[in-house]
Amino acid sequence: MKILVVGSGAREHALCWAISASPLCGTLYCAPGNAGIAEDVICVPLNADNIPEVVQFCVDTLIDFVVVGPEGPLVNGLIDNLNLAGIKAFGPSAAAAQLEGSKSFTKEFCTRHNIPTAAYARFTSCDKALAYIQEYGAPIVIKADGLAAGKGVTVAKTIIEAEKAIVAALRDDAFGSAGSAVVIEQFLTGEEASFHVLVDGENAIPLATAQDHKAVGEGDTGPNTGGMGTYSPAPVINQELTEQIMKEFILPTIKGMADEGNPFKGVLYAGLMITSNGPKLIEYNARFGDPETQVLMLRLKSDLLPALIACVDGQLSNFNLRWDDGSAVCVVMASQGYPGEYRKGSVIKDIDLLNTQENVKIFHAGTVRSSDGELLANGGRVLGITALGTDISSAQANAYQAISKINWPEGFYRRDIGWRAIKN
Ligand code: AMP
Ligand code: GLY
Repeated sequence: MKILVVGSGAREHALCWAISASPLCGTLYCAPGNAGIAEDVICVPLNADNIPEVVQFCVDTLIDFVVVGPEGPLVNGLIDNLNLAGIKAFGPSAAAAQLEGSKSFTKEFCTRHNIPTAAYARFTSCDKALAYIQEYGAPIVIKADGLAAGKGVTVAKTIIEAEKAIVAALRDDAFGSAGSAVVIEQFLTGEEASFHVLVDGENAIPLATAQDHKAVGEGDTGPNTGGMGTYSPAPVINQELTEQIMKEFILPTIKGMADEGNPFKGVLYAGLMITSNGPKLIEYNARFGDPETQVLMLRLKSDLLPALIACVDGQLSNFNLRWDDGSAVCVVMASQGYPGEYRKGSVIKDIDLLNTQENVKIFHAGTVRSSDGELLANGGRVLGITALGTDISSAQANAYQAISKINWPEGFYRRDIGWRAIKN
């Protein structure tokens, strides 16, 4: 088969790595990819957000199967357009991807289908939103309704912070049209976990659990990022809780989407808060998590590709995925300054040797090669150093041992990825 993976992050690198190991995979392309992906597969310089360009490439190249990584093209209808051109593609339609693309769509959906989530209200008027905050108080959570590149959520500890977030979205247009409405949510406390399922429109199978560290600083402090590291499994989700999550969240969601005429196919990723009153939905994503995918792919023992194809074909019910019994940890190396301003173009050295090391895989995010072959940082999140071990502690030790050999003074990373699991 000729396959195209769409995207350019470490998630897509991990997907390419897993797909290329499949006996069904003939030629694998990635658009646009990055310097690390280019070492493994053929990178094509397309803009992942330019739907006609991606579809035309697939038609011209006779691509058999497309796997879409990021949410933007999903929400904007890449899958629908590929299907119209007769090309098979893994991911939800634009209508089904609303589960990620519109927070208010998902909140209303949860109300209709009794899916446990934080209480909320939606506002387009800045004055009304500000008045609501005065009445409700803090802590409280303000969310831009639409896709805001991971920057649309403010967990406000004070009324002043909440007011700033509301004014930014509704008065100052900080998020463009994604922020023309805000969802204001009850603040939930507990431990977070990422729960992914493959879905074929009707059936779902859970992937291994994972947990993300979103905050930039050690001890989960400081501003939120796209994710500074992950580990799998997430001990907070045991077998009993897995069954509860399938029954109370995933299955009613899949049935509800199908009943409402928007059947969901692809990977559904529930961000959950495990509160003292049981799990609550924080958000749905219509795609694989990043950096969750990096740890999941390292632990996956089964062939990923036929499972993805079964999602599209509605044939998931007979599938069973096998996972490494051990644990995986991914530590993200980012450019100094991230998630604020950072510089591009610093040189990363002594990394190529590491790819031969057993139990360690380096997935690239923002990297490019200079004309003389040097590896350069080209983004906020740059590398995902991902390692297996018998348990989280040993996977963590393997990841940090690999990092200690990388020579990149302009980069930084958290030194405590996995701490909650180890403490437990
Ligand atoms: P999101 O972009 O929706 O993933 O939100 C980013 C982060 O904000 C989540 O991972 C949580 O840590 C936090 N968050 C979102 N909603 C809530 C909530 N209702 N209560 C507490 N924390 C939240
Ligand atoms: N790990 C967070 C996300 O992919 O949204």
